[in-house]
Amino acid sequence: NHKAFIFDLDGVIVDTAKFHFLAWRKLANDLGFDFTEEQNEQLKGVSRVESLKKILKWGDMKLSEKEFNRQMALKNENYLSYVDEMDNAEILPGVPKVLDYLKENDIPFALGSASKNARTILKKIDLDDKFDAIVDGTDVSKAKPDPEVFLIAAEKLNTKPENCVVFEDSVAGVQAANIGKMISVGIGDKKVLQEADYVFTDFTEIEIEFIEKLLRNEK
Ligand code: G6P
Ligand code: MG
Repeated sequence: NHKAFIFDLDGVIVDTAKFHFLAWRKLANDLGFDFTEEQNEQLKGVSRVESLKKILKWGDMKLSEKEFNRQMALKNENYLSYVDEMDNAEILPGVPKVLDYLKENDIPFALGSASKNARTILKKIDLDDKFDAIVDGTDVSKAKPDPEVFLIAAEKLNTKPENCVVFEDSVAGVQAANIGKMISVGIGDKKVLQEADYVFTDFTEIEIEFIEKLLRNEK
């Protein structure tokens, strides 16, 4: 049984978390209310449907099923207008170094994202051929913090959850990794991601020595 790595996409590989925030906020504003960046932390890693449910609660609003679906489609259209402008310059600093190291050393790695747009984004940034497996929002039925997405990724990488290391920028994703008995590495604010086994502000803080240490250790 071998070690394997799983990467979240939005906010880990690319900074699309900011586009999600802009698009959700526009939706809220159009419905006549607003929410804060702090509230937005609760949306990170969370599926499209669950995100809209949370936002409507904040605005104390209810929508018919038809209107709910229309709003989700509008949000996605708006979000994709940002994605459309992306290219591989959007890959976050420090990420290629880690992915290249894993490739060179034959350590398998997967994408584990809640997004239904994951494959579109990976194509935009030329990373669609790099991962040994891709598990995204089209493959799962349960949203993070349910570990389903990471458990499927572990299976596809032919290893036990205990051998997996997960990189995540969201609270829900860190919880999903922990519930799945994987090692969780938070990318972002230490105070927000305090449940993670390790936290780094971004990938430029991650040295190859740290990756080598993870390769030796069990949780
Ligand atoms: C990721 C993001 C969330 C987003 C979710 C669904 O987990 O962190 O902000 O809502 O994916 O993304 P989608 O692209 O399918 O709307
Ligand atoms: Mg994320």
